[in-house]
Amino acid sequence: MSHRNIILIGPMGSGKSTIGNIIAKRLHREFQDSDHFIEKRTGVDIARIFDIEGEQGFRDRESNALSELLRQNNRVIATGGGSVLRQENQQLLKQKGYIVFLDTSVNQQLRRLARDKKRPLLQTENPRARLETLFEERRPIYLDLADLAIKTDKRVARRLAADIINQLPDNLK
Ligand code: S3P
Repeated sequence: MSHRNIILIGPMGSGKSTIGNIIAKRLHREFQDSDHFIEKRTGVDIARIFDIEGEQGFRDRESNALSELLRQNNRVIATGGGSVLRQENQQLLKQKGYIVFLDTSVNQQLRRLARDKKRPLLQTENPRARLETLFEERRPIYLDLADLAIKTDKRVARRLAADIINQLPDNLK
């Protein structure tokens, strides 16, 4: 039995938190969400951190949160969509966990995030264009890091979680 972490990566609105929570319950592991961890630590929401410290300030906090969360094993961890950008984070994620990529189309993201006010990167005139740019930039990184990539479109969270668990290496479940 391996206590290696299970780490969910993927874009905003791919369902990392919802699915991570279900997987953690089913596998009797602790669930942690990097954005929630940062909000709890700072006492303010992500949008406020972007306002005050800019994206770079947020990314510093995100790197610190990841290294703290990944100090322990046996967790299921939902990361923020941009957490794969820094090379130091990529190394850490690879070292410290089994990486599951939730592969979600921009259309699906838009369906989930249409009225979102919490994500600073989407508070723009044209959220679709922003998501498309991020998709182009980041999807190759997600794919490269992934031990398991799974398409999420038109699938309900419970089924998807069950499917992921099925496909995990035996020693992780
Ligand atoms: C971001 C994704 C968000 C959050 C922040 C930036 C990104 O997390 O970390 O708004 O760069 O894609 P979710 O992926 O949980 O929405």
